[in-house]
Amino acid sequence: MLHALIAGSGSEIPPNLVKNEALARIMDTSDAWIRERTGVETRYFVDAGTSTTDLAVPAARRALERAGVAPEEVDLVVFATMTPDHFFPGNGGLLQARLGLRPVPCFDIRQQCTGFLYGLQLADAHVRAGLAKTILVVGAEVHTGFMPWSAGAWARLAGDVDAPLAPGEWEFNTRIRHLTVLFGDGAAAVVVRAHEGAGRGVVDHLLAADGADYDKLCVPGVGFKHRPFVDHAQIDRGDFVPIMEGRYVFKMATTRMTEVAQAILARNGLTTGDLSLVLMHQANKRINEYVQRALGIPDEKVVHNIHKYGNTTAATIPLLWDECARAGRIGPGDLVLLVGFGAGMTWGATLVRG
Ligand code: UT7
Repeated sequence: MLHALIAGSGSEIPPNLVKNEALARIMDTSDAWIRERTGVETRYFVDAGTSTTDLAVPAARRALERAGVAPEEVDLVVFATMTPDHFFPGNGGLLQARLGLRPVPCFDIRQQCTGFLYGLQLADAHVRAGLAKTILVVGAEVHTGFMPWSAGAWARLAGDVDAPLAPGEWEFNTRIRHLTVLFGDGAAAVVVRAHEGAGRGVVDHLLAADGADYDKLCVPGVGFKHRPFVDHAQIDRGDFVPIMEGRYVFKMATTRMTEVAQAILARNGLTTGDLSLVLMHQANKRINEYVQRALGIPDEKVVHNIHKYGNTTAATIPLLWDECARAGRIGPGDLVLLVGFGAGMTWGATLVRG
């Protein structure tokens, strides 16, 4: 029986560290509010012009190097992102070319914060079916393209300008502060390899989606529901900025993540006592603390990094994996539970042995 083993991981964090205090220069917010309600202390932003693929390239190179895999061995790419470089083509092929891979199949998947878990299931299914042996699974995002801030606001954020923002702009930025303070840019990748024998690799997946309430977390405009798909009216209304009903999303995330974690453990005859580590999507530290309490998992088994990076959507779970793997926290055979929830709505859990 072939199993999908995570053989190596890598990540890339962009250069511009932005503290909560810096955001308070361009909107009515504070370090205390953001820390208390979300757990975020800093996030990293790309320079203007850096794309999701630009971040994914070094992350993937590191993952290949740590797995001891040459680029020509890769036989499948799965790229999860909700912030692609272009409307089309997708990022998978761009990454394939930049890494100098053979012309292998490349999937682009859009399950937002659950994207990496969907990607792992695709990789595992290809391994089990004998269709691929060495797969690059990437989660990467450049959220800063969603931040509708003026050049003046960006200059204040960087500390280059001291003068206060014009009142209209300050008010506009404040109206969407519940959203913009959460997100950061980042990329992470894993190399999945076909592995013979039990005791290591992906154990099980449990994925779900329900689009009934998609509009509680979505980008309302710039889509092919409109003709043309983008126009001045949409831009003027700010329809390119995501809508998020924070309290609804919070409630759904805590409920679904708890349920899916319990369900995957139960159907594998496992308990939380069998887990070495739990890596949850990093949207809000309070969400994860709630899920941790509901599952009864001790602090030492739960790793967070939202304080450093904010929510990096498809990159959060592989970023956590990469940090834990490099810190020696995932040994051979260790059972790790990955849990995510995101726009769609989508959610899921994956059990993996290191
Ligand atoms: O990957 C999935 C992505 N999204 C999520 O998972 C988001 C899940 N939801 C959340 O994380 C939380 O709902 C938020 C962090 C978005 C908001 O926290 P909350 O505790 O639910 O706050 P709220 O929306 O109920 O707002 C409470 C107050 C409001 O002021 P008033 O009406 O009480 O005067 C907001 O205007 O906090 C205000 N507020 C802020 N104040 C300072 C909202 N955002 C901010 C802010 N700074 N950034």
